[in-house]
This record gives sequence, structure tokens and C-alpha cells, in this order.
Amino acid sequence: MPSPAQTEAVQPNPVRYARQGRIGVITVDYPPVNAVGHGVRSGLVAALDAGLADAEAEALLLVCAGRTFMAGADIREFGKPSAPPTLPQVIARLDGSAKPVIAAIHGTALGGGLEVALACHVHVALRSARLGLPEVKLGLLPGAGGTQRLPRLVGAAKALDMILSGEPVGAEEALAIGLVDAVEDGNSPLEAGLRAAERLLAEGWTPQPASARTGRIAGTDPTLFTAMRAELTKRQPHLFSPHRIVDAVEAAVTLPFAEGTARERELFLACMDSPQRAGLIHAFFAEREVAKIPGLPAGTPTRDIRKAGVIGAGTMGGGIAMCFANAGIPVVLVDNAPDALDRGMAAIRRNYEATARKGRLTAAQVEDRMGLIHPTLSYGALADADLVVEAAFESMEVKRTIFRVLDGTCKPGAILATNTSTLDVDAIAAATGRPQDVLGMHFFSPANVMRLLEVVRGARTSHTVLATVMALARRIGKVGVTVGVCYGFVGNRILQQRGREAMALVGEGASPEQVDRVLTGFGFPLGHFAMTDLAGIDVGWRIGEERRKAGDPEAQTPSWLDVLAERGRYGQKTSAGVYRYEPGSRTPIPDPEVASVIGEDRRSRGITPRAVSDVEIRERCLYAMVNEAAKILEEGIAARPVDIDAIWLHGYGFPSWRGGLLFWADREGLGKIAAAVQRYHRDIGGPQWCPSALLLQRAADGQPIGC
Ligand code: 3HC
Repeated sequence: MPSPAQTEAVQPNPVRYARQGRIGVITVDYPPVNAVGHGVRSGLVAALDAGLADAEAEALLLVCAGRTFMAGADIREFGKPSAPPTLPQVIARLDGSAKPVIAAIHGTALGGGLEVALACHVHVALRSARLGLPEVKLGLLPGAGGTQRLPRLVGAAKALDMILSGEPVGAEEALAIGLVDAVEDGNSPLEAGLRAAERLLAEGWTPQPASARTGRIAGTDPTLFTAMRAELTKRQPHLFSPHRIVDAVEAAVTLPFAEGTARERELFLACMDSPQRAGLIHAFFAEREVAKIPGLPAGTPTRDIRKAGVIGAGTMGGGIAMCFANAGIPVVLVDNAPDALDRGMAAIRRNYEATARKGRLTAAQVEDRMGLIHPTLSYGALADADLVVEAAFESMEVKRTIFRVLDGTCKPGAILATNTSTLDVDAIAAATGRPQDVLGMHFFSPANVMRLLEVVRGARTSHTVLATVMALARRIGKVGVTVGVCYGFVGNRILQQRGREAMALVGEGASPEQVDRVLTGFGFPLGHFAMTDLAGIDVGWRIGEERRKAGDPEAQTPSWLDVLAERGRYGQKTSAGVYRYEPGSRTPIPDPEVASVIGEDRRSRGITPRAVSDVEIRERCLYAMVNEAAKILEEGIAARPVDIDAIWLHGYGFPSWRGGLLFWADREGLGKIAAAVQRYHRDIGGPQWCPSALLLQRAADGQPIGC
């Protein structure tokens, strides 16, 4: 091997080997996140061979270039045959290296990336680094020794906690639990790693690989695993991989390392074959895909958003203001009623303080965030805002008045957004002289929690404004999905179909509990009626009452749900709605009073209740959604199936392991869905069951509707 202190790289990208003094440096350079794909795996083996053959390299250092350490196996390779060297083979080589290997971690060491690091003999992390095994979020388990090495370093209980949650830990915590050996300041993993390597050599230390350590797993209480299995059965009844994770970690404490690793592999491959893995990986890419908007030219310039404004200090407006403050963006909160403003600010403070009580914010952070929200009665404070979101009462007249005022108040180039959930964004934009700067930002309640943001592109919204708001969505931690203008946009329009069927099914003889049981059995966290209780029955009832009073011919006659609202049963907030709730509890309990209101409603409509099967409930609730989603695609309200999938995943609790509404529809069988839609159209009728032409076409052609 060449002898100069700084050798030339002997490996081409994505992995290179070079020596610095007596340390052989292996650098992975595979943007954007150094995913451990085939090229990286082969490169690592070749670089390790070079380092071992380099007589002047006394220790080896593994670092990554760019913004992060390796962020895991290359997810794009999943489902395809794995070309050698496989990740476990690479990892076995590192583990068995005759020279000590130090991993210096920056950014995020995740999944297979952390497993590579764990196979190294010493682990050093920059203070800002985060380390985790998030495979469970993809329906997998760590399949390259992670379930065997992590318990040996941090103990079985902490390992289970990390692997089952998939949440990374910070460097400080990693040091405290024994996951890393040292935490270094600075921004350069290379410098930190070289320092650690020199220390190691100077101290003459021969580190023991994690695979050979048993101290932390000896004497593990076997009831840990029984208790965890029982908890999972209760907490995550649908999920496949968590139970296999418990099996794998149990193998780490009950079997010798080699046998435990073989068991982990078996369990990993079972997860890899599971449909849940395919669904969760679709959901992972869907979240990223929606940010790429068809037809928006690459490099579209964006505007700086340094100051925001929100109109309306109600629950929604307050939540939106918090989104900006959470991202460090100063925000002016405007309301025309002083008491509403005071109530809104008090609610925001209560919200932050509750988060602080859970340990997720410090008292200082609460004050910092409150300090970024400036309440005012004056629209004048919006003059220099870069973006204003209107979250006022849902009335076209009110909104158009506000937009006229904003047009006269805000500086040229300010973006004016409405949070309407139903109204025509183009009609609102037409109240201004700058429709190119107007669009919808449809947040979901509670706005500071829910990740979905429907970005409603008006007929005249400019590319720059759309690109700016999509980038802003990411900055404030939302999944922004671009949609077109129509009643209810995408999410609520589909929800309306499910709601209509749920109500009709109860009208015909099902109970709300039965409908909800079928939906939670499908994987929704809440059934339709439990969700109605959470959202509040009174909102829809009040809108309906206004319309009935105004003599609106399309206003529906009051339903049994309206009768509940008339009786003051608004849902969770009054401890009674479709269900009743014990004080302080969110568990829905069926209530005979509701059954009798429903019975009375059926009698008044002359309906004799019939037994409704679970299969019918499943089909009518879910297939009606698919049919509407197909119409939304036909009309171009959503540009791609993946947009609809992301909306229902992030705004409505669609089970992520099913991939998304249209991804699931293809697996359910489009032919089966199309036939059922046609049957319900014939038997039940109504525009909702009128089959989507796109759905029928794809079913007839045997083509998927999702992706
Ligand atoms: N494989 C392939 N591509 C990946 C990837 C991976 N593991 N991780 C991220 N990417 C891609 C993204 O799809 C995105 O591509 P795009 O620009 O074309 O849309 C790009 O890298 C950048 O990703 P993000 O937009 O997510 O960038 P962020 O900076 O917001 O986040 C991250 C970076 C925290 C690393 C995040 O991407 C992430 O969480 N990645 C997944 C990590 C993971 O789950 N790893 C485990 C994989 S499974 C495994 O390792 C199995 C093993 O045990 C055998």
C-alpha cells in the first residue's frame, strides 16, 4: 500500500478509502441520505478490504459525507431480489474485522445505517446526531443484526422500546444508555472520528464488538416479553411486525448470537413478505411524492415567509397561529372581538402548557412561542405580513369582505390564503385585485396537531404562490397536498360519502356501534360515529338549522343525529353524543337513549329495521369512498392517486399499513369494487352510487387505479 500520510482514494464513489496518518478512513458518499443500496454495500466491502490490506492503517474509521450518516437500507430495493453482498454479509465483515473500526455518526443513523454502525467496534456521535431503528414504521424489523446487537448494548427493555416505537434517540441519550461510546462537539464527523481513533490507539484499547457482549442481557426477566406481547395485542391488534420484533429481541437474550441472528433473519423475511410492508412503504413514498407537483416547473421561485397573519382567534385560527409559532415564524393573530382574542390567546397558552406538562416543551420554549404570537384587533398589523390565513366564520359573504380588506391592507406580493373547507376559493379570490396571490390552505382540526394541509389551487393561483405555500407546508411540519377547487375538496368530499352510507345503514337497521366496529376492524383508529362525537355533532346541526330556517330546499329534514344535538348531546365535549362518556374518559359507551332516538326516527320514516351484515357495512362505507375518489381523479381535483392516498393517511386516520385508499382498492380488487358499486347503484340508487367511469374502465381493463 502507498505510504504517504494522505493516500489517494482507491475506491470510486459511493464509498472511498483513504488514509489519514495511521487511520484508514472509509467514506460513504451517496446522496441524498447515504442509503445502503447495492453500490454502497459492495463499496463498503471493497473499502474494508483496502483498509485491512493497508499495512499502515492501525484502525479504520467509517464516516459519511453530506448531510447525514446512512439513513438505512435502500428502501427502493425492497421487493426485488437482493444482490450480494447482502447487508448482513457486509455487517459480518465489519464485526469480524481484525482492525478496530470506529463509526463516527452525524445527522441520522437509521435502520440498516445504524446496524452498520453497531457492527463497528466503537461508536462516536456528534452532539446533534440522532440514532434509531425505524423499521417498524415500514412494517419491518431491523434485519441486519439490530435486534441482536442493540439489546447487548442498551439492555432488552430499552431495545424493545426503541425498536417498537421506531423513534430515534439523541446523542446525549445514546451515550447515557450505552448506545454510543462518546459524544463530540463540532460539525465534522471526520474530525470527531479521527480524534476518537487516535485516543483509542493511544490508550491501547481493544474494543469488544457488540456481538460478543452479554453483560446487558444476562438475567433479563422473561416476563418482559410476555407483558409486551399482551400490550401489543391490546394496543396494535392489526400490526404484524411488532410481535416479530418481540420474538427477535427475545431470541437475543435466549440464544447465542449466531442463532439469534438467524432467527432475526427468518422473522425479517416474514415481515418483508407481508402486505403490510408494501402498504407502509407506499405510504412512506406517498408522503414525499405529494411534494412534487405535476406541471409546476422545476426551479419555480418561492417567496420568503418571514411574518404571517391569521384572521380569527377561534379554535382553528389559534391552532394555525401555533403552527407558525412552532416553526419560529412570528404571527399576528387578528380578531374583531376583544373577548374572542383573549379567549383564543388563553386557549393557546393552555395548549402549550399542557404540552410542557407532558415534558415535550420547556417553560422557556412555551414563553418563546407565546412571544411569537401577537394578538391584535387591527388589520393594520397585517400590512407587512408575507402571508395571511383567514380562518373566520364559514360564510362566503364574511370571507369576501375580509379578502377585500386584506387586499387593501397587505403589501403587494403578500399571499392571501383562506382556510375554508367548503367554499369556492375562486369566488373568494375574485373579491381581490390579486387572484394570482390567493389560494386555500385547508388545515385540519386540531390544526397544530394534524399533519395534513390541503393546498387549494385556484384557477388563477400563480406557480410561485403554490410553490411557496407547498414549501411552507413542509417548514411548518405539514404534509401539503395540492388539490383543485370543488365542494369539500378531496378529503371531506370522500368523507361525506362514507358519512352518508354510515347514516343510511343505521337508518336501515345497523347500530352505530356495529358500523364503528367494522371500521375499526378495518384499521381506522375511530369509527365514523366516534369520530363524529370527537368533531362535535352541533356544528353540522347548526348549519342545517340555519339552512332549514332560511327555507333552503336542499336542507335535509332533521336526522336522528340532529335530534341528539337538540337534546344537548354534542359529542365528547358534553360527555354525550352518539355514545356516552364517563367523566375524563374518551371511551365511547353505547347508550340506550340513543338507540331509542334511532328507533323513533326509523318509525317516523316508516322503516322496519333489518339485520345488516358486516360485509355490507364494509362495502358500502369503503367502496363509496373509492367511487368518489375515482370521480375526483376523473375531474382532476386530485392530480394523482397518491395525493388521495396521502390525504386520507394524514388527515383521516386511514390505516397506513393498508398504504392508502386507492392503493388498498387495487389490492381489494377493482373488479369486485366496480361490480358492487354497480349493484348498489341498481338497488339503492342516488348520485353517490353512480359509478365512476374511470373506475369501471380500469376494472374492465384489469388496470390499477392507484399505483
Ligand atoms: N432508501 C431510499 N431512499 C430514501 C431513504 C432510504 N432508506 N431514506 C430517504 N430516502 C429518500 C427519500 O425518498 C427522498 O427522496 P426524494 O428526494 O426523491 O423524494 C430523499 O431520500 C430525502 O428524504 P426526505 O425527503 O425524507 O429527507 P429528510 O431530510 O426530511 O429526512 C430521513 C431524512 C430522516 C433520513 C428520512 O428520509 C427517513 O426517515 N428515511 C427513512 C429511514 C428509514 O426508515 N430507514 C430504515 C430503512 S429499512 C432498513 O434499514 C432495513 C434494515 O434493517 C435491513
